[in-house]
Amino acid sequence: MIQNEVLACIRARRSTRKFQKEQIKDAELEALLEAATWAPSGGNSQSWLFTAVQNKEALARINELLKTGFQNWIPDDGYPGKISAKAAAQKESFDFFYQAPTLIIASNRPNYQNALADCALALENLFLAAQSLGLGSCYLNQLHWLRNDPQLREYLFQLGIPREHTICASAAVGYIARESSAPPRKDGTINIVK
Ligand SMILES: Cc1cc2nc3c(=O)[nH]c(=O)nc-3n(C[C@H](O)[C@H](O)[C@H](O)COP(=O)(O)O)c2cc1C
Repeated sequence: MIQNEVLACIRARRSTRKFQKEQIKDAELEALLEAATWAPSGGNSQSWLFTAVQNKEALARINELLKTGFQNWIPDDGYPGKISAKAAAQKESFDFFYQAPTLIIASNRPNYQNALADCALALENLFLAAQSLGLGSCYLNQLHWLRNDPQLREYLFQLGIPREHTICASAAVGYIARESSAPPRKDGTINIVK
């Protein structure tokens, strides 16, 4: 099999769910955000916004607003992550971002069909950049599910995210405290037609 640095980085990246308390360096944050902005986007739209939150009070406030939001939320389908997020919000220990020191929120302009695709590609860039720098990261869906929660949106607006933006996803980032093992690849996911 062909090997090179990029392919090795893609294979080695895992979702981190236990982070060290220490904040990442500003240069590292800058490199991650820059990598995100180099992702492809539909029609070269580049209409995303990446909001990096490192302020501890702000992180705690977002977590608290999500917790309250999930308590009152009725999942719109039976996706297991939604059911477990709602169950987790009943507990004092609710912690959707795994105490990561940095949370990066990816949002995009409203009524844009490629909003999620563009932001997901950008976040994968960011995750691979994190891996290349020895940082851990994890895709987080909860802010997307509660993207229309009025209290949450008001607070995100205070943090600089336009009210009309679609919250696509967020990413937890930090130094790894516990390595995650690699889930085996499933069979039958590749189809080559020659
Ligand atoms: C669309 C999407 C949503 C995800 N949401 C979450 C999430 O909310 N919380 C979480 O801990 N991991 C989340 N993940 C990470 C997946 O659980 C993870 O990628 C998967 O288990 C494979 O593990 P790996 O990333 O280590 O290869 C999400 C991943 C994707 C692509």
